[in-house]
Amino acid sequence: MKYRTFGKLGIQGSAFGLGCMRFNGAASGDSIIDEQKAISLIRRAIDGGVTYLDTAYVYLDKTSEVVLGKALLDGYRDKVTIATKMPMEAVHDRASMEELLATELKKLQTDHIDFYLMHGIDKAKWEYFKSIGAPQFFDDMKKEGKIRYKCFSFHGPYDEFEYIINDYDWDMVQIQYNFMDVNNQAGTKGLELAGKLGIPVVIMEGLLGGRLANAPDNVQALYDAFPVKRTPVEWAFRWLCNRPEIATVLSGCNEVEQIDENLRIFDTIEAGIMSQEELELMDNVRAAYLSRTKIGCTGCRYCMPCPNGVDIPGIFSVWNNLSLYGGDPENNGQIRRMIENNNGADQCIGCGACEAACPQHLPIIESLQTAWKEFGC
Ligand SMILES: NC(=O)c1ccc[n+]([C@@H]2O[C@H](COP(=O)([O-])OP(=O)(O)OC[C@H]3O[C@@H](n4cnc5c(N)ncnc54)[C@H](OP(=O)(O)O)[C@@H]3O)[C@@H](O)[C@H]2O)c1
Repeated sequence: MKYRTFGKLGIQGSAFGLGCMRFNGAASGDSIIDEQKAISLIRRAIDGGVTYLDTAYVYLDKTSEVVLGKALLDGYRDKVTIATKMPMEAVHDRASMEELLATELKKLQTDHIDFYLMHGIDKAKWEYFKSIGAPQFFDDMKKEGKIRYKCFSFHGPYDEFEYIINDYDWDMVQIQYNFMDVNNQAGTKGLELAGKLGIPVVIMEGLLGGRLANAPDNVQALYDAFPVKRTPVEWAFRWLCNRPEIATVLSGCNEVEQIDENLRIFDTIEAGIMSQEELELMDNVRAAYLSRTKIGCTGCRYCMPCPNGVDIPGIFSVWNNLSLYGGDPENNGQIRRMIENNNGADQCIGCGACEAACPQHLPIIESLQTAWKEFGC
């Protein structure tokens, strides 16, 4: 295992951090996590050199912290750092924040949390956290030793990231980042800004939740033609670890084979490892994925709100994702929710307000109907 420095914190952590959000349920179907299996996966990762474990209050119907707490008994707690999170929905004042943190410490069977994150904030959520005194709470808990580092995780757009990261004395930030998300969410600009500020970056969704593990034929052809052979997973992690701003890359593994494969990969990769040819390969891989894009919607939302309630960027995002990474529209939760909430393309009356507002000049009305038909709706 390679260990990396956490920016201005100066501490070292494993390049591979285990995400505790994706454990499978028991085969019997009566529990959300197969507890014994999850505990043995966590311990296998730690025995292999992992020192960074990521969970959250809400993961796996609030059972992830409990299982992690059990896995860290028998001396394992002292070998690792734990990251967990405070969700906006669970707190509304100082007392509820204190209560939540006490609950999390109890579930994790520990007296302190190393990295405590405001969970999945954007500008609006950050303003809410400020309005209930969360920054002061984090300062106080750090002084009391109940948390070691004040952090946030983020899925919003770059301008909101820039605002939030400059608005408080953060110790660490967790962002979604991978070779496909260079211009999405915080993106490369956000990564570089954090690096400039000395704030260590922890990466989530490095494989886009597993979607980058299985290359479509046009991408696989590029990997196959490259003189050095690596799996798509290894290429994705290698591309990430090349960046010096990144402290740890999280991945949520369900199987021993995935843990072992990732331990092997993270044993060999470090910042600056990618050659010019390898970087060019990954640019070509990104272009090959993007060549399967259905529509050039950038999610700017100038078309919104639709007078008839259609979730235009949502529909185009699902359409592109299904084409890029595969998947079955019949089992797609986002499509199901659009149907339930009456904001699918079937609500479009063709008024054209969206097309007049679209800076990309996209044929929105016609594309909505094509997408909806391809979803089988
Ligand atoms: N704070 C937030 O808002 C937030 C949001 C998302 C995630 N997170 C955290 O970040 C962690 C990492 O994100 P993620 O789980 O989405 O990471 P990821 O690495 O993008 O995806 C994990 C998935 O990739 C696949 N995978 C992993 N290693 C593999 C290997 N060696 N070979 C083949 N497939 C492999 C598995 O998919 P299959 O199960 O399909 O095999 C696994 O479930 C999460 O677990 C969670 O702790 C936080």
